[in-house]
Amino acid sequence: MADIIILSGSPSKRSRSQLTADYAGKLAAKQGFTVKEISVTDFAPEDLLYARFDSPEIAAAAQSINEAKGLIVASPVYKAAYTGVLKALLDLLPQHAFRNTPVLPIMTGGSPAHLLALDYALKPLIANLKGEPLQGVYLCDHQINKGNTEQPFTDEDMVRRIHKQTNQLIESIRRIHAASAVE
Ligand SMILES: Cc1cc2nc3c(=O)[nH]c(=O)nc-3n(C[C@H](O)[C@H](O)[C@H](O)COP(=O)(O)O)c2cc1C
Repeated sequence: MADIIILSGSPSKRSRSQLTADYAGKLAAKQGFTVKEISVTDFAPEDLLYARFDSPEIAAAAQSINEAKGLIVASPVYKAAYTGVLKALLDLLPQHAFRNTPVLPIMTGGSPAHLLALDYALKPLIANLKGEPLQGVYLCDHQINKGNTEQPFTDEDMVRRIHKQTNQLIESIRRIHAASAVE
């Protein structure tokens, strides 16, 4: 069981959105959280294409998500929204798969024009699964250097924003779990 699950929605092997989510995951790990990544590329394409709800791999992913205290959901912008393959995976999860779970949404896009995909596409999807979306982070391709996996961001403001959002995820997890310990 991991405290934080990174759900990566990019089909790309060297993915910018995944790199950004991994960076946030490493920040959380430095604060004592265990982090595990689940990528859309971990699944047999047929499971996603034919909506195989009974796939053991999908069931295992659903269980990991259910047990997680927090989530980081990352996707590139594809045609002004999240990727279709991320949606195909989320469609196979139980109805309220993100219940009581704070979620850090991360999107990367080729241009700033689709910044609002975060608010109009990804956050409503998270809310539909009953997750609690944080403000989130949107980065443009030119702000990410894929060659530098340790410090991939070329913009100091972006680095600060990712740190701030990751800290908010951690604070939300601590708040929810402190409250449930009292109950
Ligand atoms: C099929 C496809 C559709 C895309 N559509 C958009 C788009 O609508 N808006 C945009 O800003 N970037 C778009 N892009 C660019 C990607 O969002 C961008 O390069 C992103 O950082 C890739 O992330 P990844 O490396 O995690 O896959 C598109 C890329 C692809 C391959």
